[in-house]
Amino acid sequence: MRTVIDLLLRNAVLPRTTAPVDLAVAGGVLVPAEGQEARETLDLGGRLVTPPLVEPHIHLDAVLTEGQPRPNVSGSLFEGIAVWADRVPDLTHDDVQARVRKVLRWQLANGVQTVRSHVDVCDPQLTALRALVELREEVRGVIDLQLVAFPQQGILGFPDGKALMEKAVDLGADVVGGIPHYELTREDGVASVEFLMALADDRGLLVDVHCDETDDEHSRFVEVMAAETIRRGMAGRVTASHTTAMHSYNAAYAHRLITNIKRSGMHMVTNPLDNAVLQGRFDTGPIRRGHTRVKQLQAAGVTVAIGHDSVMDPWYPLGYGDPLQAAFVLAHLGHMSGAEELPRLIDMITVDAATALALPENRLRPGDPADLVVYDAPTDVDALRLVARRTLVLRGGRVLARTEPARTTVTWDGVEEEVTFLR
Ligand code: FE2
Repeated sequence: MRTVIDLLLRNAVLPRTTAPVDLAVAGGVLVPAEGQEARETLDLGGRLVTPPLVEPHIHLDAVLTEGQPRPNVSGSLFEGIAVWADRVPDLTHDDVQARVRKVLRWQLANGVQTVRSHVDVCDPQLTALRALVELREEVRGVIDLQLVAFPQQGILGFPDGKALMEKAVDLGADVVGGIPHYELTREDGVASVEFLMALADDRGLLVDVHCDETDDEHSRFVEVMAAETIRRGMAGRVTASHTTAMHSYNAAYAHRLITNIKRSGMHMVTNPLDNAVLQGRFDTGPIRRGHTRVKQLQAAGVTVAIGHDSVMDPWYPLGYGDPLQAAFVLAHLGHMSGAEELPRLIDMITVDAATALALPENRLRPGDPADLVVYDAPTDVDALRLVARRTLVLRGGRVLARTEPARTTVTWDGVEEEVTFLR
């Protein structure tokens, strides 16, 4: 007897292809589409479909606080940290949850279904972390939230820093963070990495460290992370974020470091939006771009994902939580405009970001969960070029977000014509 499946998506275009295919959903997973009869059929009209977007790096506790308690006048990283330190005492449970709920909805509308958020734990009350642990349960089944215990002001350099990290893990942080380049000395930076790696290893947790987010070519803590990852056998569980100093390393050192990163099985996250405005601040010209060595890392076989980092906070006053916007910026700042490189940028916000977060693979093959995103664009490169809106977001075959495509007309010589921005 023939069974009727739940949903048939007609005319979907997958990444790196142009010919439309059909996708079929039964019981929340993808099944072979050929000859299927479905209760509901949607014609996607030749639009791009990708696996869900994954946000590997954001600071949800700080979102939408731009201007509070005062604006970041210089726009610099260090003024941003000072402004944030003055905002932390005003954090309340409801304040954090209200701002985060709003941005999670923005992210969901953009197709994001997993979010790794760093949460500042340099707060004796751990107000933000408690609020986010609660919210993680509230949004389960819609967005998967991974929480990083992130010591914004250091572990050794902040009063009771080690105890706060341990308490954060006890409260339910999924990932152990750090900021070695911000510790008081090089030795403290090394000790902070050794401490946080041991903490994660002992508790069976993941690691994601803000590492070498500076233009100082002598900031070299990623090598310590790689060494600890190798010694502890933590391949696949450790991510280094930002790593902007790598931009300024000499070629011989960068080569040795990238070789060891590959050997360790670490992942990398680059944050082009924030680092485009925060790095090179001490340069008077030429001004360095201050991004990590994305293409060299990828050529060595290291997974590199793109993070958004901030949405309207003391470090970055712009953004609406769309990874595609960050990918668009990296295409420029990372010289990733080559024909093979543009589709790679879509990988970096979907499948590569999933790898960086140790998530199961979803390639939209039969058997994969029916978690997917439809773009108002016919190909991956057009989606990137137009920073195209997501028209449909499905999770387990259920519609979680919908956007009506915009329709634009131009009147020229008295004739009104539609403009699609497609050639
Ligand atoms: Fe960050």
